[in-house]
Amino acid sequence: MPVDYLLYVSQARAGLTDADLEEILAASRRNNEKRISGILLYAPRRDGSAGSFMQLLEGNAEDLEELRQRIFDDPRHHTKVVIEKGTKEERDFPDWSMAFKNAPAESLAKYPVFKDLGEAHFLDRCQRDTISGGCEFLLDFWKDA
Ligand SMILES: Cc1cc2nc3c(=O)[nH]c(=O)nc-3n(C[C@H](O)[C@H](O)[C@H](O)COP(=O)(O)O)c2cc1C
Repeated sequence: MPVDYLLYVSQARAGLTDADLEEILAASRRNNEKRISGILLYAPRRDGSAGSFMQLLEGNAEDLEELRQRIFDDPRHHTKVVIEKGTKEERDFPDWSMAFKNAPAESLAKYPVFKDLGEAHFLDRCQRDTISGGCEFLLDFWKDA
């Protein structure tokens, strides 16, 4: 069944902890159940400091917009850039209210477009250019790495 989706990247706040990540994931799984599905990646920077989030949200357009506003108001990240949105044939993550995967630089090396996801210059590029292939990347990365 066709579904709306939204894909964004953002910069994690300095000093983000594992406990922050666990809280974000717990809230996502609690609130998204049934209506929203998707995946969240956290890519730390190569120097070990706070990196980037990449999140795919799947659901109906109204739910997505309400959730996007809530997430974008969250002080645990900033510099949010929507890199893709639209409608696709079906959900890529139907069984997940929010799948999660850490994405250290080594695990991204084989994806030319997304290998620097954790670095500040990747977010700069997202603000400047159109980045496509995000949904395919997420599905492949989830299944593979
Ligand atoms: C990167 C990031 C992704 C998030 N993703 C979700 C999400 O998918 N669903 C959700 O309900 N909250 C998500 N949150 C948390 C929300 O910003 C907010 O804290 C939460 O929805 C509040 O839920 P509560 O009122 O049940 O505590 C995310 C936060 C961040 C920083």
